[in-house]
Amino acid sequence: MKQILKVHISENKEYDIEISDSSFGKLNQEIYEITRGQKRLVVFSEKVYNLYFDDLNFSDEEVFVLKDGEIQKNYKNYLKIIDRAMQLGLTRKDVIIAVGGGVVGDIAGFAASTYMRGIDFIQIPTTLLSAVDSSVGGKTAIDLADAKNILGTFYQPKKVFININFLKTLDNKQYKSGMGEVLKYAFIEDSCNYKTPLFLFEFLTLGCEKILQREPLTIIRMIEYCLNLKISVVTKDEKESGLRKILNFGHTFAHALETITKYKKYTHGEAVVYGIYFILYWAYKKDLISYSYYRLSIELLEKYGFKPLDKKYDVKQMLHIMKKDKKVSDEKITFIIPEDKKMVKEIKLSDDEVVNMLNIMYEESFS
Ligand code: GLY
Repeated sequence: MKQILKVHISENKEYDIEISDSSFGKLNQEIYEITRGQKRLVVFSEKVYNLYFDDLNFSDEEVFVLKDGEIQKNYKNYLKIIDRAMQLGLTRKDVIIAVGGGVVGDIAGFAASTYMRGIDFIQIPTTLLSAVDSSVGGKTAIDLADAKNILGTFYQPKKVFININFLKTLDNKQYKSGMGEVLKYAFIEDSCNYKTPLFLFEFLTLGCEKILQREPLTIIRMIEYCLNLKISVVTKDEKESGLRKILNFGHTFAHALETITKYKKYTHGEAVVYGIYFILYWAYKKDLISYSYYRLSIELLEKYGFKPLDKKYDVKQMLHIMKKDKKVSDEKITFIIPEDKKMVKEIKLSDDEVVNMLNIMYEESFS
């Protein structure tokens, strides 16, 4: 089975996303065709390299292997990738390919967008999280010690190949992390301006068993739903000046949580879900959403094995980290909050309001 989704940002920024369960032989053929005549630098996640290098038609010389973990998305590795591109003699006509999860996609994309002011970039996401989110929409980045994604560009790939065979070997922790981003779409779907309702919230509620069993056709459909929502958003607002901010639902809290724990304690998707738990509770307490929607939402998160955060992080420190985030403007911190069932909106809060919000949110788990 193969689905092609088209992303049209502008006339010269168009690309296809292919979602399939086809053999690696077919994938190799397609990569060969799309990169014919180009020199290639292939940035691999270490885990994926160990598992799949023999299945994929890349030569050892063109490969750069990146160790796994958010901590690797740093400027030293970025410079190593650029060095490697120079050693290989890549020119403006050539291509960087990312094979791995969000970390590999982000850093390789950042390298592709800055090397010689931008060369072709192809994404081959191998985790659920990168398939449903980071490989699409053109965000690239590296982190500094206490500021996630602080250096980055908007740079659209030439093509995204999502082959769900890679998901078979994904460990449960990483699969669950991907489900965190999938669940995020369920809470924002009616704000995405997609042409017809997708009922993702209901699909995830009813399809839980098959999704957790990684049933191929269900997974392809789930990825397709998420990406249709994402494409709808990023084609209307590529550079996140408005609508795209809704994709950050749960993320203001999540980024602070990841930073305060030095990216070591929680996966990204897990942190996003903690952010969603908190903001749902706060929205319910503020009468923005009904009790029944709040309960349905919590039940949906629980179905996928999520629980509220069980550790309280210092409110002042969390605030301090949030203030360094890109989502700060006019000294205020931006949050995406629920305003109705499956609908969200942006608000900006002062320091005092954020402290108050965090205290209310912590009430849920620690009262
Ligand atoms: N991950 C959120 C975005 O691509 O905007």
